[in-house]
Amino acid sequence: MTLAPAVRKAIFPAAGLGTRFLPVTKAQPKEMLPLVDKPTIQYGVEEAIASGIEQVIMVTGGGKRAIVDHFDRSLELEHYLEERGKSDLLHILSEVDDLSNQVDILYIQQKEPLGLGHAVWTARRLVEGEACAVLLADDVILGEEPCLKQLIDAHRKTGASVIAVRRFPRSEIARYGVVVTNGSNGRIHEVTDMVEKPEPGTEPSDLAILGRYILAPPVFEELDRVEPGSGKEIQLTDAIHRVLGQHPVVALEFEGDYYDTGTVPGYLRANLMLAMKREGLREELIPLLQELLETSPGSRSRRAL
Ligand code: G1P
Repeated sequence: MTLAPAVRKAIFPAAGLGTRFLPVTKAQPKEMLPLVDKPTIQYGVEEAIASGIEQVIMVTGGGKRAIVDHFDRSLELEHYLEERGKSDLLHILSEVDDLSNQVDILYIQQKEPLGLGHAVWTARRLVEGEACAVLLADDVILGEEPCLKQLIDAHRKTGASVIAVRRFPRSEIARYGVVVTNGSNGRIHEVTDMVEKPEPGTEPSDLAILGRYILAPPVFEELDRVEPGSGKEIQLTDAIHRVLGQHPVVALEFEGDYYDTGTVPGYLRANLMLAMKREGLREELIPLLQELLETSPGSRSRRAL
């Protein structure tokens, strides 16, 4: 079997205004909101590196300076910590610093917030002629094998564009893109149709698109042509839809724990779940949560959490 070439580049659309999180996102990128003590976007960059990506392309907009600073060295902070002998904190800084030694991070501006498809299109000249990955930092996916690596492997085997999907109850699917599939080979399904955020009651399947993609060049060609769709924005789902029938697209039911940090309840849940996995924090949180459950009006059981 001949494998498709390795995927070397990953686009991170990070130009959104983060309106769901106002006021905290008024002067701060939502990608920098912490999950426990690490900005959301760092989880995505770590996943990209662990998946063999060599070049990260951040599509940013106004007010995103903090992302650039985060992946840069802070000599002032290093100096401050060195003088005080804080080697444990220096180690944390060096881990972040090391990320940009393992991967080149490029920044490109999306000048208008015209949608996810437009953000990806903005990076088109940086990936010309190559299949490339797209990661949505809101969707944090953690597991033994990085989610993106699973997609890259599926792309290399099939040569297809690949979309990460997960099954959800239909009642919960309206805020996602949804795919319809036909034949399957294990966890890989052939995509025959897709729709961005179907009207409730019209969901064509229970397979929701989550924020990991491998896009082959034909998708970028369609991004040049696609008109605004759902929410009057240029949708990535619509561009992929346009290649169906001409270029293979598969959906991969990936393995891993998925945290939707793109809404306030999802973000709080992710923080709680990840904090509970962290030794040292868990022990502090358990009695607190027990106390909250006992004292909160309306709480009936542990399952309410
Ligand atoms: C985007 C995509 C959607 C996908 C979702 C996953 O929507 O357009 O197809 O299901 O990410 O998080 P957004 O969350 O940006 O509205």
